[in-house]
Amino acid sequence: MINNFIITLPAKIEKILEKINLNKNGLVFIVDKNKKLIGSVSDGDIRRSILSGYDIKKTILDKSKIVNTKPFFLNYKTDIKTILYHLQNKRNNIKYKCIPLVDNNRIIKDISTIENLRKYPIANLDLGDQEFSKAFDAIKSGWISSKGSYVDQFEKAFSKYLGGGYSVTTSSGATALELALKTFGIGKGDEVILPNFSFAASINSIINVGATPVVVDVEASTWTIDIEKIKKKISKKTKAIMPVHIYGQPCKLDEINKIAKLKKIYVIEDAAEALGGFYKGKKIGLGGDCACFSFYANKIITTGEGGMAVFRKKKNSETASLIKNHGMSSKVFYYHTITGSNFRMTNPQAAIGLAQLNRINEFYKERKKIFDYYNKNLNKFNFIEFLPKNNWSKNSLWLYTIIIKDLKKKYRDILIKKLLAKGIETRPGFVSFNQMNIYKKYCKGSFTVSKKISDQSISLPTTKINYSDQDYIISQLLNEINKYLTFKKL
Ligand SMILES: Cc1ncc(COP(=O)(O)O)c(C=O)c1O
Repeated sequence: MINNFIITLPAKIEKILEKINLNKNGLVFIVDKNKKLIGSVSDGDIRRSILSGYDIKKTILDKSKIVNTKPFFLNYKTDIKTILYHLQNKRNNIKYKCIPLVDNNRIIKDISTIENLRKYPIANLDLGDQEFSKAFDAIKSGWISSKGSYVDQFEKAFSKYLGGGYSVTTSSGATALELALKTFGIGKGDEVILPNFSFAASINSIINVGATPVVVDVEASTWTIDIEKIKKKISKKTKAIMPVHIYGQPCKLDEINKIAKLKKIYVIEDAAEALGGFYKGKKIGLGGDCACFSFYANKIITTGEGGMAVFRKKKNSETASLIKNHGMSSKVFYYHTITGSNFRMTNPQAAIGLAQLNRINEFYKERKKIFDYYNKNLNKFNFIEFLPKNNWSKNSLWLYTIIIKDLKKKYRDILIKKLLAKGIETRPGFVSFNQMNIYKKYCKGSFTVSKKISDQSISLPTTKINYSDQDYIISQLLNEINKYLTFKKL
């Protein structure tokens, strides 16, 4: 979008008008080859030039003909309130419709308008040429439903990436979880053990298939399901354990599988946030009977909406494929062999997924750079607790999440609002299930660890930001925390 506002000279007037037409703000900013702001040209300036005899087809604008060499701009660290003030109030009888935000060298970093104030979103899409051309190809082929070659290609490529398993595409991460539960015949009268700290899709999937969730606390050392607490909750009705690799933080899969094997129950991993993570040197996705991934827009790779259920056994993946396709026999049309549903992913979505999967190492590298920079700059503060680390797992680096020790929930929530006013979008920790009325009946016991993570954690912008953006985010975060906390620097 910022490209529609800037132009380097020399340029034809006609070209400038094209940009003004695109940005719909009546103005372009002139920059030198380093994107340094050197002036502005408005549609009014061009109108006056034409009236004084310029030919818009021919005239090349150079610096001498720039009408305004003193455009209004602000530093990109300016807070949102000040930007808003300048956009809403007249200055020298002029109301600015768009304001360039520049760094100390006058390089344009962003353009603020009323509709688009400078903002650091928590997560940002990264769709490139490969995604566009594959999606276009899928649409052009006419196969825009779940029929079409990309679905199969994406499933095969996904298993290849993981190094095994049988992948089944779904319409979302939530439906992947439901599909897995249905595939293993889990329903009314059955119990599934899961952690108290997760996104609601984990617990909803169990309730939606008619089974009963049994919620246990998480461990402080991993933020994932507490192994000892699983053991205490196993009953004759337990049919599965649903460990959640929360924030891409791998669960203790060996311990979980040991319990499951002993009790002859299933392990269904909620790996929605964990694509690209490792457990004991192996990619997350092959650790249990089934692992479910999400491709929602903020996930490691995206198909907009979408998911994948990866089964250890081929037989289970075949049952799942049947269920997600209305339970209709693949041999006899309109003959249904199982009570199914429609959990299918479309062909254009799968095309985007395939392109995204091809780029997963590139995404990981970018996230790693961002994680490392936050760590380097925040680890000197002893009031911050980080995502746990250990020598047997590697986080997928989904969202940079920290706990601010001693900061009560009320102040954590104020912090989130204050940061948003500075253009920084953050997220609180997931509300733990025991704190929500609809789930309370499934939560018996103590939940001190999950409550702490839920109440005191905050996730920071984790994609498409550079070091100077991170400097700004970090300084604003520390400024705000400083107001609520007396802390010691180490
Ligand atoms: C832990 C967890 N499980 C399940 C889901 C559900 O995925 P989706 O939004 O694709 O349905 C999500 C994501 O949103 C998640 O974070």
